[in-house]
Amino acid sequence: MATKTQHFGPSSTFITLFLVLLLHIHYAKSDLRLNYYSESCPRAEEIIKEQVNKLYHKHGNTAVSWIRNIFHDCMVKSCDASILLDKTKEQTSEKTSQRNFGMRNFKYIETIKEALENECPNIVSCADIVALTARDGIVMLGGPQIEMKTGRWDSKDSYLAEVESFIPNHNDSMSLVLSRFNFVGVDTQGTVALLGAHTVGRVHCVNIVHRLYPTVDPTLDPDFAKYLKTRCPSAEPDPKAVEYARNDHVNPMVWDNLYYKNIMSNKGLLIVDQQLVSDPTTYPFVEKFAANNSYFNDQFAKSFIILSENNPLSGDQGEIRKVCRHVNK
Ligand code: HEM
Ligand SMILES: *[C@@H]1O[C@H](CO)[C@@H](O)[C@H](O)[C@H]1NC(C)=O
Ligand SMILES: *[C@@H]1O[C@H](CO)[C@@H](O)[C@H](O)[C@H]1NC(C)=O
Repeated sequence: MATKTQHFGPSSTFITLFLVLLLHIHYAKSDLRLNYYSESCPRAEEIIKEQVNKLYHKHGNTAVSWIRNIFHDCMVKSCDASILLDKTKEQTSEKTSQRNFGMRNFKYIETIKEALENECPNIVSCADIVALTARDGIVMLGGPQIEMKTGRWDSKDSYLAEVESFIPNHNDSMSLVLSRFNFVGVDTQGTVALLGAHTVGRVHCVNIVHRLYPTVDPTLDPDFAKYLKTRCPSAEPDPKAVEYARNDHVNPMVWDNLYYKNIMSNKGLLIVDQQLVSDPTTYPFVEKFAANNSYFNDQFAKSFIILSENNPLSGDQGEIRKVCRHVNK
């Protein structure tokens, strides 16, 4: 092949390269489809939904964790369950990145995987579990039903070293945040919609205290700052201590557009949340979502699908893990 290419000169090299690229794009995009498991494991999506439901009734916060999981998995290279891998002698773990601080309930992913393995071993990927649990978790909390394709494969590696170049920090500038989301195909409105996921869950004090001490961030509502100080009484919280505030302190376990109303009244927890209001490119969307919950849900669903389809691995690049926390032996 190499000699042939040389023989025919540079133009055929370009053609070959072009064909290889085309094939590659085709390969990567063609594998996701609706009901991918309809023949190989017809009850796969139902089993996941049952498990999400059951776990939610035992530990409501599981539903919240699934929503954060998909963001932290799909933003980093691909929706490939790389976020689920544990640290071993052979490999690093994205879970140890500061950006992934506070992520929880990974052991219940294994509960779901076991239920799937019992019914159809070696068929359903952990990457699809990450995607479908997020989809179903949103419904458990009162959010929209979202139709989602399946057929993702699992990575054979974790990308700890890359996490910080894909997942924004709590205090990054809005232009950096927007460029990160643009990179995976989500536009400005879509980014504002996805951050609406912060209508549920919690934030640990380590991600808040710099807005309270030594002086209170002037973009923070003073009464809300007083309340936050009761949640986070020390300027230097012990990172191991379970000190946190609720993302949406009125109803932190309900999926709604209250997040946007909160940030419009200067009651956002993170700097990035508050910047959606202070940045003129994002503010118009904040207003729209605050005014119309269905509009928020529609726009959220649209961007959620884009995020969930980021660069899926095909069979030869990945595998179907037997357990989600480590690669197959
Ligand atoms: C600029 C983008 C984002 C930044 C900087 C960011 C940052 C954070 C931080 C710092 C926390 C608190 C972690 C802790 O202290 O425990 C958090 C929580 C959370 N984030 Fe984000 N986030 C972003 C976008 C998203 C997106 C797009 C989603 C989902 C679509 C999401 C879902 C969540 C959820 C559900 C929680 C609560 C987790 C829990 O209570 O267990 N975030 N985020
Ligand atoms: C953002 O917060 C981190 C700690 O989480 C801190 O090290 C960094 O200096 C902050 N960056 C800016 C731009 O304030
Ligand atoms: C709210 O958004 C929905 C869905 O996008 C739309 O059909 C409806 O007309 C909007 N309502 C108002 C009052 O603008």
